[in-house]
Amino acid sequence: YRPLRVALLGAGSVGSQVARLLIENKAELAARVGAELELIGVVVRDIDKAVKAGVPRQLLTTEAEDVIVSADIVIEVMGGIEPARTYILQALNSGSDVITANKALLATHGTELFDAAEQVGAQLYFEAAVAGAIPIIRPLRESLAGDKVNRIMGIVNGSTNYILDRMDTEGLSLEAAMAEATELGYLEADPSLDVEGYDAAQKAAILASLAFHTEVPLDKVYREGITKITAAQMEAAKRDGYVIKILAIAERIPANGGEAGVAVRVHPVLIDRKHPLGAVRGAFNAVFVEAEAAGELMFYGAGAGGVQTASAVLGDLVSAAKRHVAGGPGLADSVHANLPVLPIDRVHTRY
Ligand code: NDP
Ligand code: HSE
Repeated sequence: YRPLRVALLGAGSVGSQVARLLIENKAELAARVGAELELIGVVVRDIDKAVKAGVPRQLLTTEAEDVIVSADIVIEVMGGIEPARTYILQALNSGSDVITANKALLATHGTELFDAAEQVGAQLYFEAAVAGAIPIIRPLRESLAGDKVNRIMGIVNGSTNYILDRMDTEGLSLEAAMAEATELGYLEADPSLDVEGYDAAQKAAILASLAFHTEVPLDKVYREGITKITAAQMEAAKRDGYVIKILAIAERIPANGGEAGVAVRVHPVLIDRKHPLGAVRGAFNAVFVEAEAAGELMFYGAGAGGVQTASAVLGDLVSAAKRHVAGGPGLADSVHANLPVLPIDRVHTRY
């Protein structure tokens, strides 16, 4: 098969690792895919910065359009809404498959992007957008596509799990634990995205839409952060055999005399220390899925980090490349259920 042309948009924490792994593992990936994966260009704003991050200078450019139109597969790891949205639409409209790690974009413009992909028969892959290295998108899109998911509960934000874990295990105040998380580089440039639950809400919307095959607008996700949690509350929870975690929860709400639908929310939860989610320490992520036939499943691992997230991006790249080589149909997912996203007053809160 002819070499497949890959464009990479962004060479920061994730993109520089994607470039490195693509170059270092070129032969092995080619053998796995059945075609060479040729990195034709890496788009950034500051070329010198990307060179310092290890990306070969000759691959770097600031001209996104030139690279996008020549590619078979486009990887978007720039982040933000614009110009990422426009670039992805350009890529899809020119028939390229697209891989993105951009949860903010998917949670706000996902429908537009998926519709664009469907119209031209292209595929949009996004394993890295939720819980970094943990395979959770593909299990929901494919492995559980024949089952009925009833509930998802996830620790999907590593920095807040780190903060709460340090408060729980060391008795630190919220401020002291946040200072540690900042020092370790865990928090986003705007920490309110983490501590006020915005990042987790974006991820919750993505997981819920996949699990329930329904559109979940971000503004229908109830959101509450961790900023009001005190060391005393942590201590009291511990005394009673609980731990406070901030969870993204998406669940089916049966009719029970009202309207059937789904409820999606992010807020601190008292969770039994013996629950699998109660044992998730540090900056790790975990997603606990309850499905009708499969029962309880737990997905655990690194929810962030450049190289860890690059693993998920490369997994998507191999899938996209194999689809090109074999002409396969792509991933099985569909939004057909049209379930209403309900207010959360009918959920129960003890797990
Ligand atoms: P970084 O900020 O480290 O890197 C962003 C890269 O994109 C930089 O190379 C930057 O170039 C480039 N870029 C940004 N805007 C533009 C633009 N307008 N034109 C050209 N290049 C641009 O981000 P991350 O690597 O941390 O994250 C990338 C994506 O992955 C985000 O969507 C993030 O949410 C997601 N993600 C990140 C994880 C992580 O652990 N870091 C985990 C899971 C998902 P320059 O430096 O020259 O401005
Ligand atoms: N700020 C995010 C977190 C990064 O703490 O989990 C990964 O999406």
